[in-house]
Amino acid sequence: MAQQNYQSVIDEIKSRCNIVDIISPLVPLKRAGTNQKGICPFHNEKTPSFVVSDAKQIFTCFGCGASGDVIEFVKRYYNLTFPEAVERLALQCGISIPESHGELGKKKEGYYEINRQAARFYFSVFAGKKNPGLTYMIQRGIEPPVLKAFGIGYADDSWDSLTKALTGQGFDQGMLLELGLISQKNGHLYDKFRSRVIFPIINTRGKVIGFGGRMIGEGEPKYLNSQESIVFQKKYNLFGLNLTRSEIQKEGYAVLVEGYMDVIGLYQHGIRNVAASLGTALTQQQARLLKRYTEKVILCYDSDQAGIDAALRGADVLRREGLEVRILNVPQEKDPDEYIRKRGREAFLNLIHKKALPDVEYKIALLKSQYDLNDTTQSIKFLQKISDILRTLTPVEADLYIGKVSAEYRISEGALRREVQRQDRNVTSSPQTKDESRGKTDPVAAVSESTLSLERMILRLILLKSEYLEGIREYPEAIVTPPGRRLISVFQELFTEDSDLELEAVRDALEEDELAYLETILREVQVGEKDEDAYADCIAKLQEQRLEKRKKEIIDLLSLAEETGSQSQLDDLMKEYMMIQQMQKR
Ligand code: CTP
Ligand code: MN
Repeated sequence: MAQQNYQSVIDEIKSRCNIVDIISPLVPLKRAGTNQKGICPFHNEKTPSFVVSDAKQIFTCFGCGASGDVIEFVKRYYNLTFPEAVERLALQCGISIPESHGELGKKKEGYYEINRQAARFYFSVFAGKKNPGLTYMIQRGIEPPVLKAFGIGYADDSWDSLTKALTGQGFDQGMLLELGLISQKNGHLYDKFRSRVIFPIINTRGKVIGFGGRMIGEGEPKYLNSQESIVFQKKYNLFGLNLTRSEIQKEGYAVLVEGYMDVIGLYQHGIRNVAASLGTALTQQQARLLKRYTEKVILCYDSDQAGIDAALRGADVLRREGLEVRILNVPQEKDPDEYIRKRGREAFLNLIHKKALPDVEYKIALLKSQYDLNDTTQSIKFLQKISDILRTLTPVEADLYIGKVSAEYRISEGALRREVQRQDRNVTSSPQTKDESRGKTDPVAAVSESTLSLERMILRLILLKSEYLEGIREYPEAIVTPPGRRLISVFQELFTEDSDLELEAVRDALEEDELAYLETILREVQVGEKDEDAYADCIAKLQEQRLEKRKKEIIDLLSLAEETGSQSQLDDLMKEYMMIQQMQKR
């Protein structure tokens, strides 16, 4: 029976995932007759011999002989096992996998059951006789029906009431430990969550995967979360989505917030198309999960600097999934929960409709507050920063904003257009050009070949000798792709003066996309005989790039200086320009 179900998932994947749609964001393809052709991702080649057939739904490489269907491709591309590839594709096209297939499925069921019983236990304490948990939540304005909908519970102050209840039901201690429900110290078992309000984290299949526990009143840590386990991986889940996804679909957008209480507070006040990213940086997987239910997201994080930064990063993550993003900062209050509690539903809806800015406009407004537009040099910086933002948009979007921004900030439209397009020239395709059919993009394809190969060479060199990391730090612009940046930050985390980079430790710290990138680099980048020479060559290229960039800046500055008529500034700029040219000759 289970086998049957699993087979039908495979069939559904094959019928629903068009192989061309799956491959084209990863491998740029060009039409060749009835097929599509590209550079094979499975071996090193210069001329394309990798063919994808839309009609047959298979890929074949005439260079290395790799071939197969969509599942085989995903399996090879991401280095996955067959079931992992199936899971990935199922997730990507919104097909649910029967949980009980195979060994892993059975094993997981056991853990889910423990979590379910733990949630029932916490809930029965919470909903039973008077207790500090219930008092606290009522005092925060959450009413019983909502508390019940979320299955809120209470972990009392004793050392081992959950431990006793669950071991009494015969559950395995080892499993309780793995789930992080209990801890062990000096041979004693005790409850991990004590004197806390419990928020069960439930996935969209209705399984309790983990818990958050809030301290009652002040104290540290304010929130305690289940550790990651075979059933709980934060990055794949959003808090509340199990209850709110139909509302999200119905409303046509999701309000994405930071915390448990934001979700519950908004829900209490009738905003039910809401979910939380569980206090972590929003992940690509979470964005993909949301995309199953909606095309539009309003990011409404806390009002502090950390919240603003997280929203900016979150917006990029969502955009990369092709979602339309707005950012909303609640004025005066610290977060959406507090806002709605004090001002009510209408006021919050009003904010959503009037104050939530499209991500691009939000970023531009934020920039404007950081530069003095009466100062020429600062204006130029402002212009460049705006161009950096506009360059990430689709051409149509960029065009729209060029008009809008130049009118609003009285910047010459021509200058802005030139600045945006200038760096377009050495870019093969604009980073966020939406693939019409799917809205997926490949960040790596967005960068010019030469920049990309420089980045790869640098990463390869650091992997060879971590001492190169030091010198490269001076040139943060050298690393342009998201996986590349992530690699660098992992290198930095892991590299200490007295220990070299451990490749295995690096691998462990990476997400699968990043890992794939690392493996490609290890496999494909050839350093040559002397790595010192290769390194010196990289640095020379980077210096040259800086000079080129400065020259372009000077040209912009010159046209502005001409407008404002500052002769001495003109002279200085001309001098600097000529100096750079001489340096380049040498
Ligand atoms: N968080 C966490 N661990 C912490 C602090 C926060 O996991 N020590 C996560 C929780 O998911 C929390 C979210 O980050 O809900 C937002 O944190 P914060 O804004 O501090 O919490 P609030 O939801 O505002 O909490 P409260 O209103 O209960 O003070
Ligand atoms: Mn908060």
